[in-house]
Amino acid sequence: MRIYGFTEYGGPEVEGFLDAPDPVASTRAVLVRMRAAGLNPADLKVRSGQRQGTVEVRFPMALGREAAGAVVRDPSGRFRAGELVFGSCASGSGALGDLVLLVVEQTARVPEGATPEQAACIPVAIETAWDALAELEVGPGDTVLILGAGGGVGVHAVQLARHLGARVIGVAGAGKAELVASAGAEHVPSGPGWNEAVAALAPEGVDAVIDAVGGDTVREAATLLRDPGQIRSSAAPALASELGGSGITRRRDAGVYAELAELVARGVIQPVIHTTYPLSEAAAAVATVASGHATGKTVITAATTHDLSWRGDKRGYDGRITPIRRFSMMRAAVSPRRLTSRCRRGGPGPRGRAAAPAAGAGRAASPARRGPRPGRRGARHESP
Ligand SMILES: NC(=O)c1ccc[n+]([C@@H]2O[C@H](COP(=O)([O-])OP(=O)(O)OC[C@H]3O[C@@H](n4cnc5c(N)ncnc54)[C@H](OP(=O)(O)O)[C@@H]3O)[C@@H](O)[C@H]2O)c1
Repeated sequence: MRIYGFTEYGGPEVEGFLDAPDPVASTRAVLVRMRAAGLNPADLKVRSGQRQGTVEVRFPMALGREAAGAVVRDPSGRFRAGELVFGSCASGSGALGDLVLLVVEQTARVPEGATPEQAACIPVAIETAWDALAELEVGPGDTVLILGAGGGVGVHAVQLARHLGARVIGVAGAGKAELVASAGAEHVPSGPGWNEAVAALAPEGVDAVIDAVGGDTVREAATLLRDPGQIRSSAAPALASELGGSGITRRRDAGVYAELAELVARGVIQPVIHTTYPLSEAAAAVATVASGHATGKTVITAATTHDLSWRGDKRGYDGRITPIRRFSMMRAAVSPRRLTSRCRRGGPGPRGRAAAPAAGAGRAASPARRGPRPGRRGARHESP
């Protein structure tokens, strides 16, 4: 099959279209025909070799760690051939290829009302945001500061925190002001003076920080917190630990994925897909992510430019949605009143707040089942 991947560790020069053996399904890995894949900063760290020892690589390796598509074969028997699913790629395999292998335990169905492109955004950025909020036990009455609020993790953290009823202050480039505000946050432009602007908005300090930037930005954010333990960083977990917080313990759990997909299908979370590239333009997608200033998520579809060009109506290769588009999330985030029934039923959490960020019956949904706030005592951080 064709993949967009790499044959050795390095920069963009080691990337390209490659022939690779078809992946083989097993009882632990579902074989899926890729329809959409999310691309994330971590994928470039995998390609460069920065993730050696954490993420298994088998050359030639496709880029990408999350995908959605139609099941080809599932020896575990959980999914039927042809079902639309999404999830995390199996060890040693990647997402940018005609066929992908998804870990059975990290695979869920794409519900009616959600697209493969949207579902492909869930395993990395959206679930990371969810995991951080779950650890921080964010709820009504809290003020949450989100650093990098216009990027993949940040903009979805804004939506989810608003969904939980929190007030959100989002720091992002000036060009992302509209996006960040439409997600439900009070936007503060990044750059000199951002911390004073946050302090003016929240003179009593903030209750939690979710960091997708790292460096001096998170150091300065720590000074704005009431409780230093309330930092979670996807970008700089070691630094967050030094500051009293931690990285984000990733669940990568099919139950959580299913809950998040349900929230997407209901419009509670609106994945912000700024740019969708056909697989044939994967290099351009990589460059967007590598810029470090991406807006929301970057998604790649199996459609090629050629596939699309013959369709005069600009509809996608599967006829469902337009696969090459640019848009911002238009609607404001969901009102706190739309807290899920599970949150309402669950009553207040240990700090008198809604119990979990997401709805539904996924087994990882209740913080009680995850034990005490993990990051407070230095949660295990799993690198992407
Ligand atoms: N451990 C995990 O499982 C995991 C999972 C997901 C992500 N991550 C890591 O988390 C980090 C963020 O991921 P992502 O997907 O959100 O990346 P992303 O989509 O590139 O977003 C990062 C955002 O930060 C903004 N930014 C850069 N400098 C900033 C500053 N000084 N102040 C405020 N915003 C700034 C960028 O744009 P503007 O400057 O234009 O605002 C961009 O929107 C990466 O390091 C990634 O590897 C880890």
